[in-house]
Amino acid sequence: MLTLAITFYDVVLTVHILAVVVAFGVVFAYPVLDAQWRRGSPSDLAGLHRLHVVLARRVITPAMTVVLLAGLYLALDRWSLGDPWISATFAILFVLFGLTGGVLVPADVRLAELAERDGGASAEYQRERRKADMFGGLALLLVVVAIFLMVAKPGV
Ligand code: HEM
Repeated sequence: MLTLAITFYDVVLTVHILAVVVAFGVVFAYPVLDAQWRRGSPSDLAGLHRLHVVLARRVITPAMTVVLLAGLYLALDRWSLGDPWISATFAILFVLFGLTGGVLVPADVRLAELAERDGGASAEYQRERRKADMFGGLALLLVVVAIFLMVAKPGV
């Protein structure tokens, strides 16, 4: 007979991975979403940046908090926070919190103001946009590294 032993650890691991999907899935869709919005509604770029801000505040940051809390449970239950693959990902997640709250959200707030003022035509808008794109790309790269570390668990 097939027995299915589901542990609380399995449930928390599922929550952890689901939260990763919710937090970062939308960010991987930004290049398509943004390009489509810029083509379809070029006169409402402020709306695009406000959407980024709402997603960052109401979806990405809360989901990253769940990633952290579930990850802490998993690490303390069966692993150790001193394991290099865990401590490195822990550091990456804090950088992602910093990038989101300290760089990307303020940049989108500023971009929304600039787009409202001049429709996104100013040099300042383009400068701020390049900065947001660069840090957004860095955040995505860090997520890829974090997933690799979690899956490969180098050092185990
Ligand atoms: C950007 C941040 C993170 C991402 C993208 C991420 C992603 C993942 C993924 C995809 C898995 C499943 C791996 C597998 O089953 O092979 C996993 C497992 C795990 N994660 Fe994370 N995680 C992140 C942050 C953290 C943090 C901050 C901690 C601890 C403080 C943590 C602790 C763990 C542990 C202990 C496992 C369980 C591994 C196992 O039982 O096989 N994670 N994570």
